[in-house]
Amino acid sequence: MVESRTVSSETLMNIRANDSEIHDLIMWLESFDERPGLDVLGKRLEILDVDIESLRELIQSAPDDYCRNTLFRSDQFELVVIIWRPGQDTPIHDHIGSDCAFLILEGESTETTYDLNSEGLAFPISSRVYRSGEVCAAEEPDIHRVSNDGDGELINLHVYTPPLHAFNVYDLAS
Ligand SMILES: [Fe+2]
Repeated sequence: MVESRTVSSETLMNIRANDSEIHDLIMWLESFDERPGLDVLGKRLEILDVDIESLRELIQSAPDDYCRNTLFRSDQFELVVIIWRPGQDTPIHDHIGSDCAFLILEGESTETTYDLNSEGLAFPISSRVYRSGEVCAAEEPDIHRVSNDGDGELINLHVYTPPLHAFNVYDLAS
């Protein structure tokens, strides 16, 4: 079961004070009245240069499943740092009502995308490995799974616009 935690307001203040890149990203996201769209969001994340070492001290991973560290959440967007230890993965899922883009901060992020068969079961249609500095973007109807198939930690910075309220989880077709 995924671990979910929200960093304290004090921790967020420290992150924003120590890393102007994160602070500026939040200010930029706050400047939109509507969702910026995946292309614009992806390009903004591509130029982000996060201080991963100081960020890592303020967020957590979990032994049994991947761990979501929510940094910031408003009505318009949500900023979440997700950590996967080696071998951890998400369920196969979609994102009802939200765009999702994420920057790989550390490690190798494998994204597998799926389609559904007539029984509503998921079958893989593509797989790609994203490395540190690359951005992966998922549109609302996309069905995918993110996994850490590498040897080290995988840390991704996710932006959801608007915040993720619900998602569907799918079983794999045999
Ligand atoms: Fe996702």
